[in-house]
Amino acid sequence: MTESDHKRSIRSFVRRTGRLTASQQRALDEIWPSVGVQYGDDPLDWETLFGRDAPRVVEIGFGNGDTLVAQAAERPEADFLGIEVHEPGVGHCLIKLREAEVSNLRLLSHDAVEVLDRQIPQSSVDRINLYFPDPWPKKRHHKRRIVQPAFLELCWRALRAGGALHIATDWANYAEHIDEVLEASPRFELEERREHAGDRPLERPQTKFERRGLKLGHRIVDWRYRAIE
Ligand SMILES: C[S@@+](CC[C@H](N)C(=O)[O-])C[C@H]1O[C@@H](n2cnc3c(N)ncnc32)[C@H](O)[C@@H]1O
Repeated sequence: MTESDHKRSIRSFVRRTGRLTASQQRALDEIWPSVGVQYGDDPLDWETLFGRDAPRVVEIGFGNGDTLVAQAAERPEADFLGIEVHEPGVGHCLIKLREAEVSNLRLLSHDAVEVLDRQIPQSSVDRINLYFPDPWPKKRHHKRRIVQPAFLELCWRALRAGGALHIATDWANYAEHIDEVLEASPRFELEERREHAGDRPLERPQTKFERRGLKLGHRIVDWRYRAIE
C-alpha cells in the first residue's frame, strides 16, 4: 500500500447501511438514470452534462438534499452538482428534485474527495459548498475531518480563479480547526466570516443539520473564501 493509498483509506464518512424507503428505492430506479452521474476516471464534461455553459456550483455532502434542491430552484441560471455517499439521502434528494421540477441539478454518489481528485476538471467550478460537514468531535477522529490541507488543494484546483468556497459548521471545535487550516492555506483568502444563531446564513438556505445543531444550542459559523489566482 502506498502512502497516498493509505491516506485515501482515511475517509471523512462511515458508510451507514441506512434502509431505503420504498419511495427512495423507486426514485433511485426511475429518476437516477436521468440525473445521476457515474463515478469514473474520465473528467466530467460539464457542457454535455447540462447541455449548456453556465456558472457551476458543487455541493459536497448534501445530506437529504433539501437545501441543494432549494438552491437549484432559486438559481435556474446556474448548474448544480451534488455529491453524497449516503444512499437514502440521494433517494430523498431525487424525490425532491422531481417535485421541484428543477432541470439544473445532477447528483453523484461517491466519496467527494475522489470525485474532486479524478473527475472534476481543473478550474471548471465557480462555487463549492460544504455545509455542516461531519464534525468528528473525538480527538482521535479529527484526522477524518474533511477540511484538511490536501482537501483544500483539491477544491482550489477545481475552482476557477476567484471562485468561492463556502463552509458552515455548528461545532465550535471544528470552527477553530477550519479557521486554522484555512488561515495556513496559501490557496484561499477569507472574504467573510459570520457567526450567528441560525438567523444569518451566508448566501444559503438553512439545512437539516443546522436545525439539529440549533436545537442543541450550538452557534453557527459561516465562511466564504476566495480562491487565490
Ligand atoms: C453532517 S451531514 C450534513 C448534511 C447536510 N449538508 C446538512 O447540512 O444537512 C454530512 C454529510 O456529508 C456526507 N459526507 C461525508 N463525507 C463525504 C464525502 N467524502 N463525500 C461525500 N459525502 C460525504 C455524509 O454522508 C453526510 O450526509
